[in-house]
Amino acid sequence: MTIRALLDETAGLAADYLESLPTRPAGWLTDVEDLRAQLGGPLPEAPHDPSSVIAELAAGAEPGLVASPGGRYFGFVIGGTTPAAVAADWLTSVWDQNAGLFVCSPSSAVVEEVAGAWLTELLGLPAGVGFGLVTGCQMAHVTALAAARHGVFARAGWDVGERGLIGAPPVRVLAGAERHVTVDRALRLLGFGTGCVTSVDADDQGRMRPAALREAIAAGDGPAIVCAQAGNVNSGAFDPLEEIADIAAEAGAWLHVDGAFGLWAAASPVYRHLVAGAERADSWAVDAHKWLNVPYDSGIAFCAHPESQQAAMGVRASYLIQADPGGPRDALEWNPEFSRRARGFPVYAAIRSLGRSGIAELIERCCAYARRFADALGEVRGVEVLNDVVLNQVLVRFTGDGGESHTDAVIAAVQRDGTCWLSGTTWRGERAMRISVSSHSTTIEDVDRSIEAILRAAGATVSR
Ligand SMILES: Cc1ncc(COP(=O)(O)O)c(C=O)c1O
Repeated sequence: MTIRALLDETAGLAADYLESLPTRPAGWLTDVEDLRAQLGGPLPEAPHDPSSVIAELAAGAEPGLVASPGGRYFGFVIGGTTPAAVAADWLTSVWDQNAGLFVCSPSSAVVEEVAGAWLTELLGLPAGVGFGLVTGCQMAHVTALAAARHGVFARAGWDVGERGLIGAPPVRVLAGAERHVTVDRALRLLGFGTGCVTSVDADDQGRMRPAALREAIAAGDGPAIVCAQAGNVNSGAFDPLEEIADIAAEAGAWLHVDGAFGLWAAASPVYRHLVAGAERADSWAVDAHKWLNVPYDSGIAFCAHPESQQAAMGVRASYLIQADPGGPRDALEWNPEFSRRARGFPVYAAIRSLGRSGIAELIERCCAYARRFADALGEVRGVEVLNDVVLNQVLVRFTGDGGESHTDAVIAAVQRDGTCWLSGTTWRGERAMRISVSSHSTTIEDVDRSIEAILRAAGATVSR
């Protein structure tokens, strides 16, 4: 079989999957044993025809696929995929460019340069910030906080790149009590350890309390990093970034913002006010695979001090062909990876196909649908919306005969029903259903069908 025939066949399988999304159950249809039986087996000894490999892989994987790019998937914070981004992602695989160096792919380097400038503008960040395209917000934290580590130690006269952390002056990290767990993991990976974190009290929406930050920062001295959040993973709430930026500036602290999905509010004139002050930070972490609806995996680390980012990430070797300062962009100067996927192509395609107005509309539509969920569910007896729905996240509690476990029972029933998929969390000591609206493919009909499915699942105890 020619490569063209194989790719044509694969395109058919891909289109079949995408076309099945509106009607297939939102969750998976099988169990782990069945998947192992379908996909497992001994290590193949002999070569196998590529066409059968792909056909069998697609057939074996099919029942265990989750319809997360579909319109009725509201689990975690998982974005869909826009058509142009999917198509560009295919080309990224086919082109198989190593995006680490300009000389390995001039086109990738230039596309990343362009996409980085567009992202900077869309997210309302200062022109000229450094950026690196990484696998997701987790690695964006690692990258940005590595730059922070370099920057705060440099101010204290310590070259952490050369001397490491042993014997280094102590650095304090202050972060909201409702920060995302990936901030802690980044701090662990960077050798700070989670023990260096002062957890700053948060309010009932999960927002860091500025007064508590002021007090905590005044309680110590020396180099400090403040980690603030734009968009809490449960409630969607935003830390008061303007006040936090003031406090960090007064204390001479580095301000890092976790904006995995929430920073995208900056791209909408309606929601931009939520991120006011974010532009004053020193570094930012954001995902493209969430609200920009780019296929996994895609996140971006930004840094207002390009020299710190480059000092933390840069690498030189005689066999490499590296650009001179001011020359073309070598991505490995900005990223923790050396060789890597040219993930700028789908980011570029997503931004070009949606445009500024399409991105704003995507953000606003998802938020309007989150509001629709909250309004419809909140008016039902026995259903309580637990958060202020300021963005795309809704937290819902179901009261009923099952007591505290009732909400989990409703979530399990919704997952079994398959109309939509969502999951749970513990919010301020209570179990809650989490609804995250993050996909361009969600329609108002998807929302209404999902509301009906949720109420049906809760029906035993809920009456309108
Ligand atoms: C606020 C926040 N930060 C960080 C992350 C981690 O993002 P990723 O899974 O892309 O690494 C998430 C994921 O939902 C998040 O909501």
